[in-house]
This record gives sequence, C-alpha cells and structure tokens, in this order.
Amino acid sequence: MSAPALPASPPARAVLVTGAARRLGRQISLHFAHAGWDVLAHYRHSEDEARALQAEVERLGRRCHLLAADLAQPDAAARLLRQTIDLHGAPPHCIVNNASIFEADNALLASASGLFEHFSTNTATPLLLAGGLAAALAEAGQPSGGAHSVVHVLDQKVHNLNPDYFSYTVSKLALAQGVALQAQALAPWLRVCGLSPGLMYLSGPQTQDNFERASRVNLLREPLDPAQVARCAVFIAETPALNGTTLQADNGQHLVPLARDVMFAVDQGLAPGAAP
Ligand SMILES: NC(=O)c1ccc[n+]([C@@H]2O[C@H](COP(=O)([O-])OP(=O)(O)OC[C@H]3O[C@@H](n4cnc5c(N)ncnc54)[C@H](OP(=O)(O)O)[C@@H]3O)[C@@H](O)[C@H]2O)c1
Repeated sequence: MSAPALPASPPARAVLVTGAARRLGRQISLHFAHAGWDVLAHYRHSEDEARALQAEVERLGRRCHLLAADLAQPDAAARLLRQTIDLHGAPPHCIVNNASIFEADNALLASASGLFEHFSTNTATPLLLAGGLAAALAEAGQPSGGAHSVVHVLDQKVHNLNPDYFSYTVSKLALAQGVALQAQALAPWLRVCGLSPGLMYLSGPQTQDNFERASRVNLLREPLDPAQVARCAVFIAETPALNGTTLQADNGQHLVPLARDVMFAVDQGLAPGAAP
C-alpha cells in the first residue's frame, strides 16, 4: 500500500510592502525578513534599489519577489494583489501600505490634480488593497484568528494638525479614519492598524541643515530612528490583539504642536528649542 500523500506545507508568512525599495519601505522589508517573513517588495521607479533589497532579503534566507506598479492607477490595487497571490501562492499575511506622495501645497493652492493624485496613491489604493485582501481571505475559507493584517502608514501630522501640505494631510487623515472603519468592516478576516511615524527623512525642498534642526523637534529632542518605526510594523503584524488602533512612533513629535509644518517652523522661529 502506498503511503498517504502528505498535505502540501503552507507557504511561509509573507508581507507585501508598497514603496519597498528605499527609505522606510526598505527598513520595513528588512525588519520583516529578519523576523522570518518572505517579502513581496513593490516599487514603481526605483528598480535598482528594489533589486538591491531583493539581494539583501535573500542573503537573510528569505524569499523576495519584486512587483512594479503605479499605485495612482484606479486598477492598481486589484492587479497588485492578484500578482502578489500568484507569486506567493496564497494571500499574504500582511500588507504594509507604505508608498505615498508628499507634495507641498496649501488649501488656497490645492488643485484637483494634486488632490486626486494624493488620494489615489495615499488613500484609495491602500484602502482597496486592504479590502481586496479581506475578500480573498473570505473566499479562501476560515478566519485566521488575527494572523492576517494590514498596516496603513500614516504620519504624526494626522494627530497634530497644521495647514501645510494640505492635499497630503487630507489624504492621510482619510486613511487614518479608514483604520477603524476597515477594522470593523473587514473582521474577522483581517486586522487593520495604523502606524504614524514622525519626521524621519529629508523630503522635498528641505535642506540638510533644516532637516537636522527639524528632526529634533520632538519630546526626546533626538532624530527619530526609522528602524524603530519598522520594528513597530512587524510588532503590529505579529500581535493579534492589536486591531483598529494606531501606533505613534515619533519620539513624541505629535505632542509638540506647531502652527506650520516643522520644515517651515524651524526657519521661522516657530519651533520650541530649534534655532532659526
Ligand atoms: N519621510 C518622513 O519623514 C515621513 C514622516 C512621516 C510619515 N511618513 C510616511 O512614511 C511612509 C514612508 O515615507 P518615505 O519618506 O520613506 O516615503 P517616500 O520615500 O516619499 O516614498 C516611498 C515610495 O513610494 C513610492 N511611490 C510614490 N508614488 C507612487 C505611485 N504612484 N505608485 C507606486 N509607488 C509610489 C515610491 O516608489 P519608487 O521609488 O519605487 O518610485 C517611493 O520610493 C509614507 O507613507 C509617508 O507618508 C514619512
């Protein structure tokens, strides 16, 4: 009598990280790989950096697939999720919605195209990726007791409002409110949490000198280490009790209210403790 066929072993846990090639996305991807996860690394333009990340994840003994997509396209979430499931062989256990655009404007200068671009990339596609993952899990069968999750990367700005970067802030505010709504709507298939970093990287028109002063405008008066933010993403993914909540990983920046974005506040003498 032949031996009964062994059930196929389930694939290792995998995370889809959007905007994975550089900066925080790279940190998050490497922290998941160190924690034993396979990585599906999404990128748009940064192909060379994505390949370097892939090599680094593979050196850690984990698998890394690369997926290219423009997340501003209306069908981006459905296509990216389908590719992810095809490559991994199952829905990923976690999606980290990290990719975003961050363009300067204000409520007087905001344009329809700027608002739509921020909304499509920073809000609609992340929400649709979460909804699509829940639908795929529901179709596949039993709830996993919190093993599946989505992390929406937000910004300390949503807890500490000022009117600069209007379209960006509105897009992240909508995503922040989506955390609780989706946690309720997508249960029990997956958990949905937010992760709000403070200032980590030099962005847009910022100079190095401005960044060095701005990065200390928080309760610790020290620059925020992106590795600690990345650790929080893994912590959320690996802690089933966390659902519908947001971790604020920002050295306490959200408790330092400013009339303007910190980038402008430090040059205008509006930031406590930062020399203009
Ligand atoms: N930087 C900070 O100090 C800071 C502070 C607070 C919160 N955050 C949040 O933390 C997250 C990471 O920040 P970051 O500064 O590391 O991000 P980033 O460098 O500004 O952008 C991350 C990636 O997003 C991708 N991306 C942008 N538009 C896209 C599109 N239409 N389609 C596909 N990919 C697109 C780009 O990928 P490619 O390079 O491959 O094109 C980019 O590398 C963001 O959600 C941001 O809002 C950042």
